[in-house]
Amino acid sequence: MNQRAQAAELLRRVEAGGAYANVLLRDADAGLRSDVYGVLRWQGELDASLSVAVSRPLERLQKEVLAVLRVGAYELLRTDVRASAVVSECVDAIRQMGAPKASGLVNAVLRKVAEADGPEMEVARAGAFPDWLVEDLTAAWGPEEVEAFLLASNTAARPGVRVRPGEPGDGERLEGIPDARLIGRPGDGLTFQDPASVAVVQALDVPAGAKVLDLAAAPGGKTQHLLDLVGPGGRVTALERHARRARTGARRVPDARWVIADGRHPPFTGGFDRVLLDAPCSGLGTLRRRPEIRHRIRAGDVDRLAGLQSELLEAAMGLVAPGGRLVYSVCTITPSETTDVVDGRGFEAPSGLPGRAAGDGWLLAPHLAETDGMFIAAFDA
Ligand SMILES: C[S@@+](CC[C@H](N)C(=O)[O-])C[C@H]1O[C@@H](n2cnc3c(N)ncnc32)[C@H](O)[C@@H]1O
Repeated sequence: MNQRAQAAELLRRVEAGGAYANVLLRDADAGLRSDVYGVLRWQGELDASLSVAVSRPLERLQKEVLAVLRVGAYELLRTDVRASAVVSECVDAIRQMGAPKASGLVNAVLRKVAEADGPEMEVARAGAFPDWLVEDLTAAWGPEEVEAFLLASNTAARPGVRVRPGEPGDGERLEGIPDARLIGRPGDGLTFQDPASVAVVQALDVPAGAKVLDLAAAPGGKTQHLLDLVGPGGRVTALERHARRARTGARRVPDARWVIADGRHPPFTGGFDRVLLDAPCSGLGTLRRRPEIRHRIRAGDVDRLAGLQSELLEAAMGLVAPGGRLVYSVCTITPSETTDVVDGRGFEAPSGLPGRAAGDGWLLAPHLAETDGMFIAAFDA
């Protein structure tokens, strides 16, 4: 199969089976990655162009045909590949995918798209992001910042790493997050983690020897960071609701004490020096690496998650010892899951991080400091 056929096939798997693009593309070459991520990032704009060129509604097209057309439209509108090469490769692709009868349609539609005007539309208007998200963010941030966020969210993320204690670390140091680096390629002794995730644990200000609870812990990326900070005299308890995820966490971070339970009804009475609630969320801060999330999350999902986050936060607040600290974090940027959740509960923004204040917390985001979107708020008991 040629690259366009492979891309179309992977896109179908992402759309049909809920597969994650970053997992499917782990060993893929740059061209294939560009096609798959490009379609997921710009699908709204690509479909808008295709629907002008196709005489019937797009959802009535065969799934293979629509996927190949999206790959072709992406290359025509968003890359420098020659139009004639795009059209002929896509025609070959649909034949290779077992739908030779559709080759005439693919040829005609992509020629029309190639001849149409360029895509110089504003990113939000282009429909690359769902309307509800653009509206929600615009009401909270204003149009200019939303535009900057959306554009930055449609770029590729440079890998981020955390330098573990005692290990050398190279790469570009990030002001305000001492252990975080942005690098081009992974080096030895470095743990893959976006700088925004490193910042979450930093905001918890964990002293050596502390008794720490990680209330929604799997797969354990931050749990390991917590363990690195408490050292041999401390203890980290990692709670996770879903057994399979807890088992993965326990395999990855065996030195934490893993507990399978619902964080809304935790089996502890309290007394933790530090509590981290890195809550389940819509993940819309990670669009650079998981562009398909925008097509999966609906406004209703965000409301449901905000309810769960509030309940978890209520439970978490009851578990911090006097003089201790709780951090609430989510890798998303919707107001309902961030500022609204902590509002009026005595939270404050952690200091010393890149990004900007947001309500009673702090926001990191790709357009602010080249990190994932992450909201962090701290509560001192
Ligand atoms: C954002 S993830 C945590 C990521 C983790 N802190 C890390 O850095 O690797 C949230 C986790 O909360 C779990 N979760 C969802 N509902 C929960 C609940 N009611 N109680 C405890 N954990 C829950 C999810 O299964 C998911 O593993």
